[in-house]
Amino acid sequence: MDEKEKVEIKPFTNGPYMVSGKFKLLDAKGNEVNATNPTYLCRCGHSKIKPFCDGSHRTVGWKE
Ligand code: FES
Repeated sequence: MDEKEKVEIKPFTNGPYMVSGKFKLLDAKGNEVNATNPTYLCRCGHSKIKPFCDGSHRTVGWKE
């Protein structure tokens, strides 16, 4: 498998998951969601644009 095709999911300290590689993001109904590559998925639960991170983890002081 080409390195560019590998999906990599990396948690940022006190921040989102960065997802890169050849991936498809789906919603709960199985519909494809447009996403940048890499994309950043919310881990803290405070984003107003879920599933994406909007930086709210910083303003709420989320730690993990
Ligand atoms: S991880 Fe960034 S808003 Fe939730």
